[in-house]
Amino acid sequence: MSDAYTAAWNESIADPESFWMRASQAVAWASPPTRAWDDSHGWFPGATLNTAYNCLDRHVEAGRGDAIAVIYDSPVTGVVEHYSYTQAMETVGRVAAMLARQGVVKGDRVILYMPMIPQTLFAMIACARLGALHSVVFGGFAPLELAKRIDDAAPRVLLTASCGIEGSRTIAYKPMVDEALKLATHQVEKVVVFQRERLTAEIVGPRELDWAAAVAEAASDPVPAPAIMAANDPLYILYTSGTTGTPKGVVRENGGHAVALTWSMANIYGIGPGDVFWAASDVGWVVGHSYIAYAPLLVGATTVLFEGKPVGTPDAGTFWRTIKRHGVKTFFTAPTAIRAIRKEDPDAQFLHEIGTGDCGVVFLAGERADPDTIAWLEAESGLPVIDHWWQTELGWPGVATCFALGDTRRKRGSAGFPVPGYEFAVLGDDGKPLGREQSGFVAVKAPLPPGAFRTLWKNPTGWDKNFAAFPGWYETGDAGYIDAEGFVHIMGRTDDIINVAGHRLSTGQMEQIVAGTDGVAECAVIGADDAIKGMTPIAFVVPRAGAEGDTSLEKRVIAAVRAELGAVAALKTAYVVTGLPKTRSGKILRNLLRKICNGDDWVVPPTIDDPNIPAAIAAVMQAAVPA
Ligand code: COA
Ligand code: AMP
Repeated sequence: MSDAYTAAWNESIADPESFWMRASQAVAWASPPTRAWDDSHGWFPGATLNTAYNCLDRHVEAGRGDAIAVIYDSPVTGVVEHYSYTQAMETVGRVAAMLARQGVVKGDRVILYMPMIPQTLFAMIACARLGALHSVVFGGFAPLELAKRIDDAAPRVLLTASCGIEGSRTIAYKPMVDEALKLATHQVEKVVVFQRERLTAEIVGPRELDWAAAVAEAASDPVPAPAIMAANDPLYILYTSGTTGTPKGVVRENGGHAVALTWSMANIYGIGPGDVFWAASDVGWVVGHSYIAYAPLLVGATTVLFEGKPVGTPDAGTFWRTIKRHGVKTFFTAPTAIRAIRKEDPDAQFLHEIGTGDCGVVFLAGERADPDTIAWLEAESGLPVIDHWWQTELGWPGVATCFALGDTRRKRGSAGFPVPGYEFAVLGDDGKPLGREQSGFVAVKAPLPPGAFRTLWKNPTGWDKNFAAFPGWYETGDAGYIDAEGFVHIMGRTDDIINVAGHRLSTGQMEQIVAGTDGVAECAVIGADDAIKGMTPIAFVVPRAGAEGDTSLEKRVIAAVRAELGAVAALKTAYVVTGLPKTRSGKILRNLLRKICNGDDWVVPPTIDDPNIPAAIAAVMQAAVPA
């Protein structure tokens, strides 16, 4: 137990005004807040700031221009680059001037469909400088998903690169952008393409621009001044999987975001000016937004932008090499990455040979960290390994061990304790708080702390839904319990969202695609346990009359999900079955399917419509196992 943690949490709940007003002093405001919260305007009403200025200019003005802001380490291309704060600020200024020349102004949207290269990060911050909202779309999503986001965000400009590099494969991005723009109703005014050496793209017609040429053309334009943004003006939109096929556009506001992330770096991760922080995620996800792009720069630290995978780029030692090479002090990754490393290097030979240099702690998030993976990493690295929990909606951790506040309590299987600013309860079906050790809906008391979402893009009623089931509480969508010692345990989702390799996906959305495949009468997609990815989607397909003998059905279903949702869906298995297990009222018994897939013990539930179906499904799966 740490007194500092307890004092911080108690104050944040008893007197959030004073707690967050004090935290807000770490941010450089154009006009500082006079109060922390009001119900109509949210966090820091009336205050103004610019997030890009806070990330770069203020550190240069403070005389830290030569300090390293960004290290780009790309084992897939062999390139390592260092950008000082001055260089990063100047580069961002040039990109902002280029965007301004394309007509981008405060409030406009800019979509980024880009790989893990420094230009992506600089373009995000350039948008922030202009007051334009960036919306980064993860490269693993297919054109149709990109098109949905283009139609929802209605961007003026789309930024992309000629290719992404996925391990040993080069993935052409431009054809996917072309396809998405054909599928979208909204038409962007400009498409700016960053050409990479590995594979260049054809730039066609007046709408398309070469990034370097467009930046050069704007070289003599003045660097746009940082836009003055109200604290509650949006900084970005980040789409995430909801329970429908339509992605949810989580809107992040400038003021609360800057305050919360700055607080988290000092008090959770222990990172300040000059420290090196590495979040091994992708800028397409919330972890990448918060802890690759923004938080390290907000506090004047060095961020590592890593273009590679935990294994295969070139081997299972790449994480330890990167940590050592750059003097990483705090490292953040997903449990799935550690499982992938462990599979390749079970005795941690690379880890022992290379070591972890200056690293003092490893944080894990994105999915539940299984106790075995934590135990392995702690034993092999000798470092504390801290599981912590959060969501795209929140933007920063809600449950953690606040390591930098001197708290070291950990229990494997738990994500830790409520972070200051968050009051949790586990609620029953009736919305009443349950006692310790009792499982239920994990909820956070409203209003949510700074940094968390206050609306969804063009969909305020979607946002309200998160607060509708339990008035006064935000329903996280996760199930869990708080144990006798106060540790919070997050056990899984209460909806159809699954976590595949730390990526948040909707099985409902996959079902929509599978159901639309020719020859499918009905289907179910569930998340089965996977030793590396945590979960993996599996489709069960009932052919329509006349299509029973169609041997291409499995392959077509898998191809459809890849084509429509993207490679990231990682749906690799589909079983053609004669029927789905359903209750007499027609509800698919997904839990039963999950148990069958996981090889768990299962019984035929009394409510089942056709008691022969589960055994028939198990037999199909058994027959499909390669001899
Ligand atoms: N652009 C294009 N395609 C991409 C992509 C991108 N940015 N990211 C992933 N894909 C593709 C992959 O190449 C793969 O394609 P394949 O089916 O043709 O092999 C597919 O999407 C699934 O990717 P993934 O689930 O990442 O599987 P993987 O086998 O390539 O890698 C791990 C597995 C565990 C190594 C990897 O997922 C990983 O490092 N996960 C950590 C995730 C993370 O940091 N999440 C953020 C939360 S903190
Ligand atoms: P995302 O919005 O992509 O960050 O996904 C958020 C979801 O991932 C949460 O609602 C959880 O279901 C899951 N998740 C993230 N971190 C953890 C964790 N440490 N333990 C358990 N589940 C987690």
